[in-house]
Amino acid sequence: AKAALGKRNLVLVGLMGAGKSAIGRIVAQQLGLSFVDTDTEIERVSRMTISELFAAYGEDEFRALETRVIKRLLRTGPRVVSTGGGAFVNEKTRKQIERGGLSVWLNADLDVLWERVNKRDHRPLLKTENPKQTLKDLMDKRYPIYALADITVHSRDVRKEVIANEVLTSVI
Ligand code: S3P
Repeated sequence: AKAALGKRNLVLVGLMGAGKSAIGRIVAQQLGLSFVDTDTEIERVSRMTISELFAAYGEDEFRALETRVIKRLLRTGPRVVSTGGGAFVNEKTRKQIERGGLSVWLNADLDVLWERVNKRDHRPLLKTENPKQTLKDLMDKRYPIYALADITVHSRDVRKEVIANEVLTSVI
C-alpha cells in the first residue's frame, strides 16, 4: 500500500526488535523531520527506565503515561515517532495515532525479532521463563492489530538503510 505523508507525523509501530528506532532515525533524517522514540521520551519525562516504571507502577500505569506522551508528541509534530511495541495495541493510543499521523507497521519474522532482542535484557515483558515463546505469543496476539496500520513494510535481515528506503518510498 502507498499513502502520502504530507505534513503528518510518521508513526512506526510493531514488535520489539522490528527496528522501529533505527529505521525511524534514518527516515526522519531523509525527510528532514525530527525523530523521537516514545520509550526514550517516557524515560526522560519520568526520570525512570522502562523497567523501573513497570516494576514500580505496573503495565497499566505505563500505558497511561505512554498514551499521554504520544498524544503530546503527535500534537507538536510533524515528526517521525517510533513507538514502544504495545502502544498501537492499546486502543486509546491507537486512536490517537490514527488521528495524528500515518502509521507504518514494521512486520518481522520471529527469528529476526529474536535475534535482535535476545542480545539485550531491558525489556520487562520478556523477563519470563521462555522469552522466545513469549515473543511468539505476543506476535500471535498483536499481529492482527498491527495489520490495521496504514502501511506495512517487511523488516528483514538486510541493512537498515534498505528497509528505511522502503518506508520512505511508500510514504512519498
Ligand atoms: C513493550 C515494548 C517496549 C517498551 C515496553 C513494552 C511492548 O518497546 O515500550 O517494554 O509492550 O511490546 P520496544 O518495542 O521499543 O522494545
